[in-house]
Amino acid sequence: MVNLTVNGRAVSGGEDLKLIDFLRDELRLTSVKNGCGQGACGACSVLVDGKVTRSCVLPLARFAGKNILTVEGFSQREKDVYAYAFAEAGAVQCGFCIPGMVVAAKGLLDVNPSPAPAEIKKALRGNICRCTGYVKIEQAIALAAKMLRENSPIPAWEGSGLLGENLPRVDAAAKTLGTGLYVDDITVEDMLYATALRPPKPRMRVLKIDDTEAKNHPDYVAVFTAKDVPGNNKIGHLEFISDWDVFIAEGNVTRYVGDAVALVVAKTKASLAAVKALVKIDYEELQPLTSPAAALAEDAPKLHARGNVLSHEHLVRGDVDAALQNAAHVVTQHYSVPFTEHAFMEPECAIAMPEGEQGVLLYTAGQSIYDEQREVARMLGLAPDLVHVRAKLVGGGFGGKEDMSVQHHAALAAWLLKKPVKVLLSRQESLVIHPKRHAMEMDFTSGCDEDGRLVALRAVVVADTGAYASLGGPVLQRACTHAAGPYNYQCIDIDGKAVYTNNPPAGAFRGFGVCQTAFAMECNLNLLAEKVGISLWEIRFRNAVRPGNVLPNGQLVEENAGLEACLLAMKGVYEKAVTAGKPAGVACFFKNSGIGVGLEDVGRCIVSVEGGKVHVRTSAACIGQGLATVTTQEACQTLGLPPDMIVAEAPDTRRTPDSGTTTASRQTFFSGEATRRAALGLKAELDAGKTLAQLEGQEFFGEYFGVTDPMGSDKPNPVSHVAYGYAAQVVTLDDEGRVDNVETAFDMGRVINPKAAQGQIEGGILMGLGYALTEDYPLDNGIPTAKYGTLGLLRATDAPPMNIQFVQGPALGDIAYGAKGCGELATIPTAPAVAGAYYAKDGKLRAKFPMEDTFYRKTKP
Ligand code: FES
Ligand code: FES
Repeated sequence: MVNLTVNGRAVSGGEDLKLIDFLRDELRLTSVKNGCGQGACGACSVLVDGKVTRSCVLPLARFAGKNILTVEGFSQREKDVYAYAFAEAGAVQCGFCIPGMVVAAKGLLDVNPSPAPAEIKKALRGNICRCTGYVKIEQAIALAAKMLRENSPIPAWEGSGLLGENLPRVDAAAKTLGTGLYVDDITVEDMLYATALRPPKPRMRVLKIDDTEAKNHPDYVAVFTAKDVPGNNKIGHLEFISDWDVFIAEGNVTRYVGDAVALVVAKTKASLAAVKALVKIDYEELQPLTSPAAALAEDAPKLHARGNVLSHEHLVRGDVDAALQNAAHVVTQHYSVPFTEHAFMEPECAIAMPEGEQGVLLYTAGQSIYDEQREVARMLGLAPDLVHVRAKLVGGGFGGKEDMSVQHHAALAAWLLKKPVKVLLSRQESLVIHPKRHAMEMDFTSGCDEDGRLVALRAVVVADTGAYASLGGPVLQRACTHAAGPYNYQCIDIDGKAVYTNNPPAGAFRGFGVCQTAFAMECNLNLLAEKVGISLWEIRFRNAVRPGNVLPNGQLVEENAGLEACLLAMKGVYEKAVTAGKPAGVACFFKNSGIGVGLEDVGRCIVSVEGGKVHVRTSAACIGQGLATVTTQEACQTLGLPPDMIVAEAPDTRRTPDSGTTTASRQTFFSGEATRRAALGLKAELDAGKTLAQLEGQEFFGEYFGVTDPMGSDKPNPVSHVAYGYAAQVVTLDDEGRVDNVETAFDMGRVINPKAAQGQIEGGILMGLGYALTEDYPLDNGIPTAKYGTLGLLRATDAPPMNIQFVQGPALGDIAYGAKGCGELATIPTAPAVAGAYYAKDGKLRAKFPMEDTFYRKTKP
């Protein structure tokens, strides 16, 4: 046994345990997060004799006699200061990284109470945050330092929660101090642990699964395979293309290395790996298809019964051949972008347990509890209401938690065994299993007249959609519908294919296909600007859609569309940089709010009076964007009540009505509007003279359906989406080619909470910089080779200054009080603006991500 001190208490534990497992599993210190288990993310940081140390790397034996401090062991004063400072600065989004950041902050401030900004950045070098862009975390640490130095009291928040106020996030303190619970922070009595066996190569025939040896292990509980699935062995986010096997059955062929062949259940977390190692699976290795070209070859084996093309989009308006023939300038360019990984900080985890005679209760952290309910119920052959899903905190998603990963396996094991079961992915499993951002090959031909006004676009897009459908079809569709950009021309021929391969599946990822085609479109604009002899800003200004124009997809541009205003806000910034001789890139883009294209798109909310407070109940998942704070402010605005009278409940299929998936930047708009409508019901009663006490127990329902036209509508101006957000951005480089400033203007409609919106955009910008410059997800014959630390995620020391402006046109009606949302738009313009800056620097078009021959990657193509 190893003796040590943790948070002032003498404790002892087994010497082979990792320190993190001892702290989390034995001492239940939930501020210590396991983000990677690979020493790369800093989420597990603790202080060891005052020094910031990653607890996931070394065994307990190395800490004998040491003093360990976690956030739980901070003084109450320190806890109060950090909780206040992180909330006040708007530094908390999904929150998973934050306790590690707080530990890094204390490690710094204990030795340097007045750190310079660069010293704060340096102190955070070992800690990844995927949500925030680090700006507000650094501001929070500077604020905490000042308060601790000056012994300032904790100020009370003096606002009313109305729209436009910087109401501190309602979950900020719990996330900062590590008391807020993510799924893996929960333990249940008699809980079992399960993990899936997966093939070593992408395409393998499963010959035989044998658990004879495993059964001899004292902690063996069960091995489940396809034969044990009582309902449908296929899952899939889109019900009409459910092509993803719960398990690949004996005799069948795997489609990627993340496929599950069997599920092993053991009595303890510690023995799970040993039991798993005793299960033997015989395979026959088959040649994988690792590119769309290979999958489209005539003699290629069919990966799915429907063939190897998941979806095909062909959007045509006008006569592109004629327009290009008559154009004054035409450019044609090939663009190539790789798979990229969400790298959300919290690996996937689910806990399931029996509920009632036949049902199952599932704790999850996905992007929609009702999707999880539907998919799990179908797999178990149960009525949906027998599957009770409750969401815990979600440590980031960005689209990567829309599909089932662990939920169905936990539910199956719990339902069959009638015992609680936890399934937690290791970081390496997480990297392999969930769908990625699509790799795309794109050929874009754009034409303009002699003034630089666009006349036509021909685009061919081939997306590698990997092993399963996931959301590959809709992603391809958004890639195509946005490919022509937010510009005023209506002559397009855009042909897209999403092709199945034996690579990991690709699906939703912030931007939903638009990051890829925006890069191609915006780079072609840069090439045309050069031919015309006008600036990168001018060509965009001449073409930008204004109210009353028609988007390339035919939709009329709303009266409040602010792209022109965004560009005008960037004019001085761009010209100043150019005058100073700095390389500067400009990009514009737009992104839909809501699913649109005629599909069901609905927000729902119940507002109820309980215990004298107003409960806001919607199933909309907060994956870090701050939805509970949005709905709280919507309720405060509608009811005129202060935020401490509002309780925003966590999603729960028994309490919160179905508000759809957190996807397509839709929840601020859809669930925000549903909240407003539900709250109006309560307001009418209050206005009629009733008190909250008299209304105790009453419920008010709000629902909002977004009505749109389907793809291929024959209307002259179909409404594809209920709203679009717009942005313009300028990126500049220093002499060494390092990004030294990002300025941006956003039209996201009414800004509910400016600080939260800035935080979203800062995080989106950093993600966009990583996409352009450093991030990659390499595959070796279909096998991912990256670890969390080699994905190319940017760190605090890489984050440039960012300045964000909001522009807002007139409100068009009351829907969601004029908010449009910005979750995805935040990421889209950055990579093209970086490409423009490098093009301005040396006249070389870098048409491939991550870009080469830059400050960040020296290799030349
Ligand atoms: S969990 Fe330890 S560094 Fe990521
Ligand atoms: S808030 Fe930092 S990873 Fe989400």
